[in-house]
Amino acid sequence: MENEQTRHVSVMLEEVMEYLRPQPGGHYIDGTLGGGGHTSVLLERSAPDGKVLGIDTDSKAQARVQARLSKEVAEGRLILSHGNFSDMERLAQEAQFTSVDGILLDLGFSSDQMDDPQRGFSFSADGPLDMRLSQDLSLTAADLVNNTGEEELADIFWRYGEERRSRQIARRIGRERQKRAITRTSQLAEIAAAGVPYKYGAIHPATRVFQALRIAVNQELESLETALPQMLSLLQAGGKQGRMVIIAFHSLEDRIVKEFLRREARDCLCPPRIPMCICGHKASLRILTNKPIVPGEQEVAANPRARSARVRAAEVLLKA
Ligand SMILES: C[S@@+](CC[C@H](N)C(=O)[O-])C[C@H]1O[C@@H](n2cnc3c(N)ncnc32)[C@H](O)[C@@H]1O
Repeated sequence: MENEQTRHVSVMLEEVMEYLRPQPGGHYIDGTLGGGGHTSVLLERSAPDGKVLGIDTDSKAQARVQARLSKEVAEGRLILSHGNFSDMERLAQEAQFTSVDGILLDLGFSSDQMDDPQRGFSFSADGPLDMRLSQDLSLTAADLVNNTGEEELADIFWRYGEERRSRQIARRIGRERQKRAITRTSQLAEIAAAGVPYKYGAIHPATRVFQALRIAVNQELESLETALPQMLSLLQAGGKQGRMVIIAFHSLEDRIVKEFLRREARDCLCPPRIPMCICGHKASLRILTNKPIVPGEQEVAANPRARSARVRAAEVLLKA
């Protein structure tokens, strides 16, 4: 494990760096350390004395980066923190990481996780139906699939996967699990794909069901919603024009980021029918990406995983 190399290719690396603008001596938080790709470039470009706090909920990711960037860890330039980015303020405090210049979230899962059949994220390789990003979580995707009512399952597929066949798939799961428990990714992929003809160029018919379960198991949207205001306060506490950069991979994540940035970039949040502001809300951010930045054709050709990436960035406004 310790010598295992990462298979993950960092997405939109140059675009992320353009917004984060790492400087010597700067302090950055990478809330989604993964294979350490973005972190290693942050460390390079903030040399000789810049620091990164790298957070990941997956202890395997952390162990891999610990081995890969052992020199920077030994020098105290890379501080590794095992936890959820929804606890970012506490984790930063524990690491005595104050005065933050930039924060990155590169959401979702890495190729290291996706390509390991034992983690259960992939419908193309058989493995246990797990899907937990963190070893600390107790509920697996198999627990959800076997113990959740059909209506609630359909709701998960619809809400988190925008799956149009949500009810049909949930009913089929209900029938199948009466015969035997659904414990393998291949079983679920077969159920989700049943009756759907394969169309060249279309996504695999199980894609949305797998996405929905992963989001539900890891409470991904809740974590993002909790993390964003903490990222803002950490940057505000830094007292500099710190920046946050978020890479989202599907519309549900991107909507949460977009709405948060828009709200925090506005001076008043009163409904339009109220003639004078009574909320007193003041803008705390300047949005740097009016539209999300998408990867170039070359990147998508070289790394198809990048195709759905959307980058949004914002800069903290200093209080007058
Ligand atoms: C897309 S990968 C990041 C890849 C990384 N930027 C790189 O260049 O190698 C996402 C990582 O974030 C982690 N992750 C996802 N949700 C998390 C959360 N709520 N808290 C902490 N880590 C999380 C996953 O375990 C995964 O390792």
